[in-house]
Amino acid sequence: MEIRVGVGGIQATEDELIVVNLFEGVGALGGAAGAVDQALGGAISEAIAAGDLRGKVGETALFYPRGAIPARRVLVVGLGKEEGFGLGQVRWAAAAAARKVRELGAHSFSSIVHGAGAGALAPDAAAQATVEGTILGLYRYQELKSEPVDRADPDRLTLVLLDAEVLPAVEEGARIGQVAAEAACLARDWTNRPANMATPTDLADEAEEIAGGFESMTCQVIDEEQAAELGMGAFLGVAQGSEEPAAFVVMEHNPGRDDLDTIVLVGKGITFDSGGISLKPSEDMDRMRDDMGGAAAVLGTMWAVGRLDIPLHVVGIMPLTENLPSGYAYKPGDVLRAMNGKTIEILSTDAEGRLVLADALVYAGRYRPKAVIDLATLTGACVIALGRGVAAGAFSTDSGLLVRLQAAAGATGERIWPMPLFDEYKDSIESLTADLTNTGGRMGGVGTSAIFLKEFAEGYPWTHLDIAGMVFEERPATPKRPPHLTKGGTGFGVRLLVQFLRDWASD
Ligand code: BES
Ligand code: MN
Ligand code: ZN
Repeated sequence: MEIRVGVGGIQATEDELIVVNLFEGVGALGGAAGAVDQALGGAISEAIAAGDLRGKVGETALFYPRGAIPARRVLVVGLGKEEGFGLGQVRWAAAAAARKVRELGAHSFSSIVHGAGAGALAPDAAAQATVEGTILGLYRYQELKSEPVDRADPDRLTLVLLDAEVLPAVEEGARIGQVAAEAACLARDWTNRPANMATPTDLADEAEEIAGGFESMTCQVIDEEQAAELGMGAFLGVAQGSEEPAAFVVMEHNPGRDDLDTIVLVGKGITFDSGGISLKPSEDMDRMRDDMGGAAAVLGTMWAVGRLDIPLHVVGIMPLTENLPSGYAYKPGDVLRAMNGKTIEILSTDAEGRLVLADALVYAGRYRPKAVIDLATLTGACVIALGRGVAAGAFSTDSGLLVRLQAAAGATGERIWPMPLFDEYKDSIESLTADLTNTGGRMGGVGTSAIFLKEFAEGYPWTHLDIAGMVFEERPATPKRPPHLTKGGTGFGVRLLVQFLRDWASD
């Protein structure tokens, strides 16, 4: 979608449809909505007085000016209550409006920047959130449908502002919002894509193509043979049950730039997790195609990093493989040796994520990074602890790094919640035969998975994000949940990481 920014009164804008907004429970309309209302002879106030429009967040009402202004339609969208208003409501309102615009079949529309006026939000942040909500709200995964399921997306949005002074800020916010949201949609596509069309090779090809699109970026695909030479026994142990070749992908933005801070992002990339010999129940097993949601987030983030040319040395690592049972598969009781020499006794082949991450975290150390962040759909226990679609679990060896991530989470609405790395968890992964076991039993399952990873995340500040409950929205949309999070892959982590990296670079 093309995004433009223009200056003027929105009531005078020549477009198919204009969008203005309204807080819940306000009687007198001000700002852009007031100007439009006046031009329409009070039609909007009348709808409010009649109780047909209350301003609830995401609520919409449509008006036909019939020549009173150049636009053919006026869409009013609710922002919700003024109290507690923030960027989350902006994304919500923008998404609801955009979906309504599509439903109406309009090809082009103009909107005010939600929250920048009466909402008193910074114009760049408000513009960013308006654009993000629009793009995320319109997202659909339909590449495998023979017929389009719905009307076509509008192809142009113009943000209209009254005050020319904020034009540069709005343009900048809109640019960042577009890149961040499109990057999240890229991650959504890969998360939604079925496992037979999103193999390790497919993802590695995509990483190479993305890197090839930027002067600043390189991509190295380490195959199984090279991984063996590097001593990645944990990663290869998981890979050996599958006929699909595994790939350990390393993307680098600004490689070799010693003057820049190095940040490494690691994403779990199990393109299908059957559980292996410790086979999962077949019910809902199809969902395990999203077990590469961490890798998808890293891929999307790297694309955004390239587009925004963020002045950091950013490394994106994606250990990609299927986890399948076969005559070649690794078995409970087997012992694997990770890249740092540590030996791991396998108690469940379904605890495969921590194994591929172990080698990736050791590999990350070679960059002497200022920070390493991994994202992984690691445990069902994290979903039990924090809930579905509520927050990612955040385990950190560095409180400064955690604080930075929390700030980015607050700004983007991609929520994370701190979890402990208590030493006691180590007791449950003690092994009789090897250095560690790969599972710690039912109790404290999310903590034991994180303490396992810590054994491999040595020599740098590190945060592990368990995103198992966040990568896929399984519930259908309801008015109670934000419409920029539709059913399917969410792209969780992309906007969070883009914000985190931009903040780091500007410090
Ligand atoms: N990919 C799963 C975790 C998962 C489960 C994500 C459900 C989303 C929804 C992971 O590889 C896994 O199987 N974890 C096991 C660990 C256990 C064997 C210690 C789990 O959580 O049950
Ligand atoms: Mn598993
Ligand atoms: Zn898994």
